[in-house]
Amino acid sequence: MAKSTPPGQAAQAAATGFNSTDSGPANDPAGGKKEGEGVAKAAAVGKMAAAMPHNPNKQAEHGRDKALTPPEGASVQPPSRDATGSTLAEKNHTEKYGKPAAPGVNAAGGSLERVRADPEGQPLTTNQGVRVSDNQNSLKAGLRGAALLKDFVLREKITHFDHERIPERVVHARGSGAHGYFECYEPLSSLTQASLFAEAGKITPVFVRFSTVAGERGSKDTARDVRGFAVKFYTDEGNWDLVGNNMPVFFIQDAMKFPDLVHAVKPEPHHAMPQAASAHDTYWDFVSLMPESTHMLMWQMSDRAIPRSFRMMQGFGVHTFRFVNAQGESTFVKFHWNPKLGTHSLVWDEAVKISGADPDYNRRDLWEAIESGAYPEWELCVQAFTEEQAEAFSFDVLDATKIVPEELVPLQPVGRMVLNRNPDNFFAETEQVAFCAAHVVPGIDFTNDPLLAGRIHSYVDTQITRLGGPNFHELPINAPLAPVQNNQRDGMHRQAIHRGRSSYEPNSLGGGCPHQAGTQGFVSFPEPIHADEVRGKPEKFAEHYNQAALFYNSQTEAEQRHIAAAFRFELSKVTVPAVRRRVVSMLRNASEELAAEVAQGLGMELPEAMPRALAKTPKPEVEVSPALSLTARQGDAGIQSRQVAVLVADGVDGAAVWDATHALQEQGAVVRLVGPHIGAVTPREGPAIDADASLENHPGVLFDGVIVPGGPDAAKRLAADPKAREFLTDQFLHSKTIWASRDAEALLRQAGITAQDEELPGIFVTAKGGSKALQNFVSALGHHRHFERERPAA
Ligand code: HEM
Repeated sequence: MAKSTPPGQAAQAAATGFNSTDSGPANDPAGGKKEGEGVAKAAAVGKMAAAMPHNPNKQAEHGRDKALTPPEGASVQPPSRDATGSTLAEKNHTEKYGKPAAPGVNAAGGSLERVRADPEGQPLTTNQGVRVSDNQNSLKAGLRGAALLKDFVLREKITHFDHERIPERVVHARGSGAHGYFECYEPLSSLTQASLFAEAGKITPVFVRFSTVAGERGSKDTARDVRGFAVKFYTDEGNWDLVGNNMPVFFIQDAMKFPDLVHAVKPEPHHAMPQAASAHDTYWDFVSLMPESTHMLMWQMSDRAIPRSFRMMQGFGVHTFRFVNAQGESTFVKFHWNPKLGTHSLVWDEAVKISGADPDYNRRDLWEAIESGAYPEWELCVQAFTEEQAEAFSFDVLDATKIVPEELVPLQPVGRMVLNRNPDNFFAETEQVAFCAAHVVPGIDFTNDPLLAGRIHSYVDTQITRLGGPNFHELPINAPLAPVQNNQRDGMHRQAIHRGRSSYEPNSLGGGCPHQAGTQGFVSFPEPIHADEVRGKPEKFAEHYNQAALFYNSQTEAEQRHIAAAFRFELSKVTVPAVRRRVVSMLRNASEELAAEVAQGLGMELPEAMPRALAKTPKPEVEVSPALSLTARQGDAGIQSRQVAVLVADGVDGAAVWDATHALQEQGAVVRLVGPHIGAVTPREGPAIDADASLENHPGVLFDGVIVPGGPDAAKRLAADPKAREFLTDQFLHSKTIWASRDAEALLRQAGITAQDEELPGIFVTAKGGSKALQNFVSALGHHRHFERERPAA
């Protein structure tokens, strides 16, 4: 029997008609409810709706001034939580349901703690939480009988396994991620209202993913390629993704060409070769017909494309963005990440060999550095400049094939990023993370860079396929820490359980919520537009070579040699001579010297220079920028996390091994004792040494430096081992630091290191160890490489 309703509420409910429903009793529901609850809810709803007799914001939707200062949406304080609830039954808690989320809390987001699963001490279960008694055998009709269809445990396990793979990213498929934080140095409020830059010392959590572009998910780390450098900032005003690369420019100027570029560089469609390599016909065919790529090609052919470590490469936002301050004033801005460890790279021969010795070279390096507490760190710098300054530049700042030289606009450090935590689970975090160039927060806005425009569209679009529906923003790694409230509903794999019945705006049945945020929200910078609707490019985009020349001319001799060698290698893999000629003819417009060297390396005549798109080349403001050389940023971390091999064999001078090992470890280097085999090695005196790596499983290319301690017997053994010879040869040819005992002279000679070579930088041959010799080794190791002694073959 329905209870009678209190007269006041009943009257109100009756007046508004809320006391009747289509499918339930017209009276107040009975059961466990408090008396009058249903009517009270109806009354509260009525009161709330009545508090909004019309939509007061309608007038504010019109006119330019209103567009710039949108009002906050109309809302009313609900008289009770019931008024906006879906059901009175929500008060009936179960262990599963828990409490309703507090107002303003994003139930599907927040800290990852919520979803970190830990099986410690737990029994195995099915996905429905039913304990599995036997995980070894399927259910059979008799021990030798047929397997039964009703074995739901087996079927669930296999079915889930069958669907474990998701599509890989269409580009940047191979990547590695880490968590960390960003710390703001000083308030940047004169430039931007972005909350992460609001106070000195403010910490914002980040997740970063580094990647290669062209290779598939399982491809090698050391391919010659651009590296992705994508940072997701979980700011208190929503997620900001700075989805950049380790090179500050791009191949193309307009998003219309991106699919063409990617089709050209990916494995050729008829035979799916080559994997993770640009050294093939279609790539060079395309780029040589796109002379705007010349600048980027210089970067891609430089050592930047084969970084020693993700921790030792710069990152760039590439496009010109806007900072917008609280007064609505905009400043153009370029983003740069500078690594504390300095910028260091591999050499090509080394990269090729590493791809066999350890295809996970960069991934392992990042993981191990973080595990060992050597947290990688970058400084975020901005180049901020006005539109008027930009107008005066000889190049267009909306052209992603151009940098703004540091000599024109200096870098301003604004904060630092530290990566201090490896993910728990590669798939859940690194694979499912979804960066998007469109994710900006108040204070950061776009410019009209036509490449950026395509990116603003592309990322979410592709992720709908890659992550299987439109709700991937709710995946724990993607969910912002900031609250999420909107009227988007449903779709595959929805996590949030939205309370209430209004999923539209404006509404009065949800108290007007979620209401628009007005000027507290993201207000797009009101850039004036006076233009024709056209498909075309601005005139300044037609200058293709000035900055390619700037880059090449700013490199050290060794870096220039490497660029020439890279063009030679790549083009030597091109089978169509006309394509080779076209590339060289393009290079002539950037550097006659480089073009001549490449032509010679390919055994071809120097072709005519490619006709320029622009009749009159503007004079560049800057013709040499030392900041563009990798050597400009050596870092200030000494030998921290550098990999050093100490070669050991029976008869080695044990004391020398340990002296060097301990001294290097104290300075943060990672020392491996590399023997002819792993395991026990008997030194000349003292206890056995446990070799933790072998010449076979850890060849020389994996180390930044090598020490060959004394002990004539050990030296003899190593000299007789072809792998030890190869180890030393590679260390020598790749310009690395070598310290050998005089006892190892025979080994050195067999490795091609002559008595004259011993005078070269980075090579130390000493009769004894001692602190002076060690100091020399450490200081040379801190220089990374000694390209002065490079031979053309490297
Ligand atoms: C119109 C030009 C571009 C388009 C259409 C485009 C599109 C894409 C797409 C579809 C993905 C895969 C995203 C995913 O599945 O999660 C991607 C990834 C990526 N793109 Fe772009 N891209 C463009 C230009 C650029 C540029 C200029 C940069 C550098 C500034 C860049 C940096 C990245 C990075 C770093 C990733 C990997 C993100 C991650 O680690 O998950 N892209 N891009």
